[in-house]
Amino acid sequence: MPKLTNIGYLATCRQEGRQHEIHLIEDAAIVWKGDKIVWVGNEVDLPAEYEDEKTFDAEQAMVIPGLVDCHTHLAFGGWRPDEFEMRLKGKSYLEIAKAGGGILSTVRETREATVEELYEKASGFLSEMVRLGVTAVECKSGYGLSVEEELKILEVYRRLSEEQPVHMVSTFLGAHTFPAEYREDHTAYVDLVINEMIPAVAEAGLAEFCDVFVEDSAFSVEDARRILVSAQAAGMVPKLHADQLTSCGGAELAAEMEAASADHLEKISDKGILAMAEAGVVGVTLPLASLYTQETPLDCRRLVDAGLEVAVATDFNPGSAPTFDLPLAMMLACNQGRLTPLEALKGATIYAAKAIHRQREIGSIEPGKSADFALIDAPDPNFWMYHFRPNTCREVFLKGEKLNM
Ligand code: NIG
Ligand code: FE
Repeated sequence: MPKLTNIGYLATCRQEGRQHEIHLIEDAAIVWKGDKIVWVGNEVDLPAEYEDEKTFDAEQAMVIPGLVDCHTHLAFGGWRPDEFEMRLKGKSYLEIAKAGGGILSTVRETREATVEELYEKASGFLSEMVRLGVTAVECKSGYGLSVEEELKILEVYRRLSEEQPVHMVSTFLGAHTFPAEYREDHTAYVDLVINEMIPAVAEAGLAEFCDVFVEDSAFSVEDARRILVSAQAAGMVPKLHADQLTSCGGAELAAEMEAASADHLEKISDKGILAMAEAGVVGVTLPLASLYTQETPLDCRRLVDAGLEVAVATDFNPGSAPTFDLPLAMMLACNQGRLTPLEALKGATIYAAKAIHRQREIGSIEPGKSADFALIDAPDPNFWMYHFRPNTCREVFLKGEKLNM
């Protein structure tokens, strides 16, 4: 059984105690067997039976659970740097979308791409994400918007989850926007999602979650309710893109549907916060998206003060968040969202795991969980977020294996 010793600061991120506590162990050691952790504690208490085992020296690094990116749109064709420049010149995200750009422009390029092309591109992103300490990624479809094209994207995720080591979770997001073919008949598209896409995705076992973009300019609360009810009946767990650009009842719907998470939330109402807190829905902040769309960031403190668990994710996509840098998202969640570094760390580990229903397998360093850790070159989470550097991740262990980086 291999072990990791000489850890300067171990943030286990175990889910207990008060919200901001990360369960710190100084001078710690971790022992694992195969891909599962078997012992965590103070190195002086290391049971004699583990003493002669293969030892990795952490050289006093800070050790954290492998980071969990619980919201990405990982597989897509093309990029949209031109829209980035247009937004900087004053056009809004919505104006660009209305003119046929935005999500629909990526839909066109994704439809043109083959499974192999999407696989190669997404796989490249995953290898770079791992180097930042990310060991689990949630991936959404939503750039296909037809039965065949949505299945194509989810098939890419299935292959990735089988062929590379990162933990992956797939989400069906057929209700991302209305495709051009259905511009004049939105009800027909919602019917297509319900009557054809959901059954096809469920039958192929390609997604565990179903997400809907609830927004004045996308799907209404009523559309989303219909879609999520039928996805739930087909065995998928609801998630929502909610209250990003307007406050339109998305958070309240997430509470009503007992969604795993409601994400974005920049414009969440006080009522929405209360409803989510009562229903125990995880709030996911996506600070890179508000940064890149020049919108006011979510004040996470409002959510934390109301008792919500706030996860932090990248929203990686070619439009509103064209970077997969999760530590950067964490730093923004601190500086713009007023999370403390400890809260941001829990937000990108245990709460993120909860947002994808994986809190029993990943997201903290404790016996029984997957042996996923990142060795960070910082004395503690506070210093890590404060003296922010390009990449402080020295080493990553994923499912018990030390990765070559
Ligand atoms: O999460 N809000 C909708 N979807 C994405 C943006 C996708 C895109 O612009 O391509 C988001 O921000
Ligand atoms: Fe998103």
